[in-house]
This record gives sequence, C-alpha cells and structure tokens, in this order.
Amino acid sequence: MQEILERSRYYSDMFADNDPEKILKYFLKQYSDSITLATSFGAEDQVLTHMAVSIDPKVEIFTLDTGRLPEETYKVWEKTERRYGIKIKPFVPDQESLEQLILQQGINGFYDSIEKRKRCCKIRKIDSLTRALKNKEAWITGLRREQSVTRIGANIVEYDEAFGLLKVNPLIEWSTDQVWDYIKKHNIPYNELHDIGYPSIGCAPCTRAVKEGEDLRSGRWWWESPEHKECGLHLKKSAE
Ligand code: ADX
Ligand code: SF4
Repeated sequence: MQEILERSRYYSDMFADNDPEKILKYFLKQYSDSITLATSFGAEDQVLTHMAVSIDPKVEIFTLDTGRLPEETYKVWEKTERRYGIKIKPFVPDQESLEQLILQQGINGFYDSIEKRKRCCKIRKIDSLTRALKNKEAWITGLRREQSVTRIGANIVEYDEAFGLLKVNPLIEWSTDQVWDYIKKHNIPYNELHDIGYPSIGCAPCTRAVKEGEDLRSGRWWWESPEHKECGLHLKKSAE
C-alpha cells in the first residue's frame, strides 16, 4: 500500500499541469491491459470516452448497469457504441442478492432510510464495481472537484484505498463550461437529460432535475443531506 500511495503522489506532481489528454495517453500506455475507464454516460464520461478511444481504440470501458437507469442513459449508451465502433462492458447486479434485496426492503425501499439506500447502492453498484476492478491496477473516472463538497479534496491521481488501486481523474480541475465546450466542439453524443436540467445523472428514481444556481449534484438523492450524497463508488475508506 505504501508503494502505491507514493506512486499516486509522484503521478500527481508529474501531471500538475492538468492536461487530460496527456494524462490519459500516459496511463493508457503505462497500464494498457490493467486499466479501465468507468462511464455512467454523463457529460464528463463522454469527454473521456472520446479522448480515450482516440488514443487507443481498444481501451476498456465499462458501465455499472444498475437496472434502474433512465431510458435516456440506455439511448446514449447505444449511440456511443455506434459512434465510436466500440463495445462498453456491462456489469449487472448479482441475481440472488438483488432478489433478496427486493424481497427484504421492497422495490423502492431506498426512499425509506439511508441504510436501505446504501444497501441498494451496494448491491446494484458497489458489488459490480468490485468485479469490474478485479485484477486492475488503475481506473479512470470523470470526477470533477466542482461537483460537490464531498469531492473538494480529490486529486488527479489518487490511491483508491476502498478498492486498492490507482484512481485517475483527468478532468478533476475542469469546469462545467470546459466540459460542454469540448462536447460541442467534437460533436460528442450526450445524455439528453442534460438539456432539461440534469447536470448529474444516476439511477432514475434517485435523480431529479435541478434549478438554475443549485448545486450540481443536488438532484441526486435529493432527500438526503449533501455530506451523504455518495453511493460508495467514490468514498474514502474512513468515510464509509
Ligand atoms: S456517483 O458515485 O454519484 O454515482 P457520479 O455520477 O458523480 O458518481 O459519477 C462520477 C464518476 O463515477 C463518473 O464520471 C464515472 O467515472 C463513475 N461512475 C458513476 N456511475 C457509474 C456507473 N453507473 N458505471 C460506471 N461508472 C460510473
Ligand atoms: Fe438503488 Fe438509487 Fe442507489 Fe440506484 S442510486 S442503486 S436505485 S439507491
């Protein structure tokens, strides 16, 4: 662990100029088969997919299909595969655990309490992420510092102690405008929910539109307070 921690600090210094393409190029080459890009088909992930496929058309890209995603997300998934001629690797929840979860807390039990919400996120997302990251040395995400209070301390390259590998966040310092300028410039397909007030998109029942000036992630688990708004994909171990 000490070694990987030191490596993450070394990389963070190395890429202090924050050029996402340079960062991606380096990591895709350095870690080739042991690196994977996580996409939820949000605006940031679409930017990263475009950049990564241009660098390496064989790059591994995966998504966690929770079974509760909005129809618009499935649409942009399909569009993205067509546009880039790629296949995105799907990870779905374990059948038995999901059946038990639904029996125990009901199909929409996640509205009842934070515990039930977290149990649902664990089975529909975290357990799948654990499988997606198995045998990998690094993963790439579309995290941006501006997204929320829980992400202010995030860095370009980090040691992901919860999953035990490097986490690369090439867009960590990008603003919303930079993301959208890039999407428009390259005519990148994007989730149409972004056009009707959804800056951050997760599962359909746990995401809603936000009003002008509201926090970017305030439409996610809107019934919870801001410091709880992480599902476990991006938690520091101590905060679990
Ligand atoms: S979440 O933890 O609240 O759901 P968010 O939607 O902000 O995360 O996305 C941050 C990054 O996490 C994305 O850019 C993507 O890299 C990764 N991510 C989030 N949801 C998924 C998903 N369903 N499948 C794969 N990666 C995801
Ligand atoms: Fe379940 Fe909502 Fe978490 Fe999706 S976001 S896994 S529906 S609690």
